[in-house]
Amino acid sequence: MAEVFVVSGLGGKKTLRGSIPVRGAKNAALKMLSASALFSGDVTYERVPNIEDVERLLDLLQKLGIMSVSTKKKKGTDASLTLSVPRTIRSVFDREIAKRLRASIVLTGPILARTGKVSFPHPGGCVIGERPIDLFIEGYQAMGAKVRVERGMYVITAPKSGLKGTTLFFRTPSVTGTETFLMTAVLASGTTVIENAAMEPEIVALCEWLNHCGADIVGAGTPTITIRGGGPLVARQKGIVIPDRIEAGSFLILGALAGKDVRVTECEPKHLASLISSLRHAGVTCDVDDEKKEIRVKASAHPKAVSIKTHEYPGFPTDLQAPMTIFLTQAKGESLVFETIFEGRLSYVDSLVRMGADIKTMDPHRILVTGPTPLRGRLLESPDLRAGLAYLIAAVIAKGDSVIHQVYNIDRGYEEVEKRLSALGVSIRRSSI
Ligand code: EPU
Repeated sequence: MAEVFVVSGLGGKKTLRGSIPVRGAKNAALKMLSASALFSGDVTYERVPNIEDVERLLDLLQKLGIMSVSTKKKKGTDASLTLSVPRTIRSVFDREIAKRLRASIVLTGPILARTGKVSFPHPGGCVIGERPIDLFIEGYQAMGAKVRVERGMYVITAPKSGLKGTTLFFRTPSVTGTETFLMTAVLASGTTVIENAAMEPEIVALCEWLNHCGADIVGAGTPTITIRGGGPLVARQKGIVIPDRIEAGSFLILGALAGKDVRVTECEPKHLASLISSLRHAGVTCDVDDEKKEIRVKASAHPKAVSIKTHEYPGFPTDLQAPMTIFLTQAKGESLVFETIFEGRLSYVDSLVRMGADIKTMDPHRILVTGPTPLRGRLLESPDLRAGLAYLIAAVIAKGDSVIHQVYNIDRGYEEVEKRLSALGVSIRRSSI
């Protein structure tokens, strides 16, 4: 049976109040769990979000022999999870699971480095453009591996002497590429240098944890990362997942649209500098408390247009582009939204226009939003998880009811979102159809 969210919109009223805690970051947890293959024995994690993508990765790990031995789920941040990594692990990915999860590509590195081989299908995930894996294939080859394609699966084999460190220059600063190769390099021989590396906070957190466990990684958070190989790692410290900055940012945008007084708690405000700067420029009050790790936001009566251009961290995150567009439909004037990272990430716009937004598509990467325009509730279908949450935000501010289909796409990345939004005063329920 399929599930939908039914949302009764506020019709432009700014009445939301209360606090909304942020969970562990999906895009940090998926990489730290993948790193388990670099260890032997038990590896314990904290603050792993209880979301569909994590479930899929745990299924994939289990098929390779890495089992979840205990899960303690108290309230959100207390959730802890232990994986048991045997001496011998398998190297052939389950085709169906891996195809559903883009992040499965990250696991190919640790498995190859650990077992000397890995077979996997082209990874799936969100439909947001071409999502090639050329950087991965070229990187493995540069480290001495052989690559072939057999019955729809990539088959990568390391030389008998193991993978060798090398210098990799990324034509584009890929997030998963950086994470994959820094993990692979930990078990390779010699030194690997990643140039034009991505600098996202999730990468920094991953490297800090791996270094505590015996890795030698220098430069995370800068464009040049140097890894001295050697491994294996010892799980001396728990892998603690950092707060999800995309979730925090989405709640902040909701507060900026409909908040009387909303506090986004258990977050890392420093990771949201770009969004906060744009919201303040538009006239929204955001009070940041770095010590308490929270941001207090109130909607502005007359927000102003502000143009955004997505960029690798610390620039404006592509994962917040769709939620920010909802905000811009309520801002006075013309805002240009320029999506520079993915070519298929503006497909959600047509439904917003049906809701009453004034948005012109200029080319596959740019839209012009003219506001403010009231939105009306509609039947909506989440095309991917970030646009799915954007539709939820649009439904909350719209007049009338909206029904959002493909809830799975939202559950992939946001834990119990309807419960947390209800606590702010949003009228939302999950229903089976
Ligand atoms: N690219 C290539 N070749 C490759 C790999 C990437 O050309 O082999 C290109 C991509 O097509 C894109 C650019 O490089 O144009 C940057 O993509 P990147 O590789 O950084 O994206 P990703 O690592 O696949 C991660 C997140 C995305 C997030 C992007 C950008 C994970 C699992 N996914 O994807 O998150 O949008 O970085 O920040 O970490 C999401 O959570 O909804 C999501 C899509």
